[in-house]
Amino acid sequence: MKIHSKAVHSGDRKRIPGRPIPVTTPIHTAASFFYDSLESIDKVFAKELEGYAYSRYDNPSNAALEELVSDLEGAHGSLATASGMSALQIAITAALVDRRKHVLAANALYGATVKLLEQVFEPFGTTSSFVDITNLDAVAAAIENEKPGVILMESISNPLLRVGQIDRIAELANAAGACLIVDNTFATPALVRPLELGAHISLSSATKYLSGHGDVIGGIVSCDSAHFEPVRALSRIYGPILGPFECYLTMRGIKTFPLRFERQNQNAIHVARHLLTHPAVEAVYFPGLDHHPDRETTARLLPAGQFGAMVSFEIRDADRQAVFAFFDRLRMIVPATSLGDVHTMALYPAIASHRDIPPRQRARLGIHDNLVRLSVGIEDISDILADLDQALAAP
Ligand SMILES: Cc1ncc(COP(=O)(O)O)c(C=O)c1O
Repeated sequence: MKIHSKAVHSGDRKRIPGRPIPVTTPIHTAASFFYDSLESIDKVFAKELEGYAYSRYDNPSNAALEELVSDLEGAHGSLATASGMSALQIAITAALVDRRKHVLAANALYGATVKLLEQVFEPFGTTSSFVDITNLDAVAAAIENEKPGVILMESISNPLLRVGQIDRIAELANAAGACLIVDNTFATPALVRPLELGAHISLSSATKYLSGHGDVIGGIVSCDSAHFEPVRALSRIYGPILGPFECYLTMRGIKTFPLRFERQNQNAIHVARHLLTHPAVEAVYFPGLDHHPDRETTARLLPAGQFGAMVSFEIRDADRQAVFAFFDRLRMIVPATSLGDVHTMALYPAIASHRDIPPRQRARLGIHDNLVRLSVGIEDISDILADLDQALAAP
């Protein structure tokens, strides 16, 4: 099946002989399950019998969502987690169990991911170092020097939208015995399936495009066959699982995700081209533009004509106050901290996603104080452009 069909069918409509089949998976709120004999639950615990015992381990609502996302990502198995951050934490921890405790990370990452490495993993003895993931020679040299257990990157980076060569980095990771973890939140499985390119774990904040309506906090970890059991085993102990209501909402969201995302991709192309010629705009970051530094990688790894739906841009000569004023002038575009929703959203990285990165480090990474990040929604493109134009116009 193709992605539009998988999105509406995978995971749902389990057949149990003699029982009616609900068209969507019900929300299973039970914390635990029992059987007509204790022997059965003994066998479920021993994994000799398929079934559910305790919802921290497994639950039919979670299982349905996990099967759906595994189908979308081409994964051996997936785990639905309470947030994108908990997906990152459990994936890195599981991958490092039997590897050298060092993470080689892309220097362009979501701010909280950097904090996770520096403030959560480092105090427990896992060191980290950072590299320009779009420079393969630099990645190879860093692997040689650091001997990392995990290599961590985003398929499209936050907020400057760089696109790394997942397949080539996977080759380097495999040769070094490292686990390549790709945060696929921005590209989504509609554009890139990291496991098919050789990565070992692909994860996403399900809060974003997958659920898509701004009403869920969730994450998902999709694994190859070697990493699924370690992730699952750790989850049974840690318990960072997604609740059944959020599983339902995420599944409901995913049914229209490929449709929404197509429209968002198209709208983003129009927004990027429009901003490129706008006199109040100094620079535009979008993988679909001719001057984008990873244009070749994008053409090689992403489907033709689709570049994701994030567009970042710098407002000409704007200081913080001018950027604040731009946000305050927005009438339709929602100035809230997230992305991937049906509505267009604007975020100011310097005070939100990358707030805790020291200003000098932010500047070194190219995240300037006049940078705005847009998550383009499904609205009529003329309304999106009109709102940007009026907010960019000098008062
Ligand atoms: C690329 C990326 N990864 C992970 C996360 C964390 O996701 P969550 O907020 O669901 O924990 C975010 C959040 O914005 C993100 O942008």
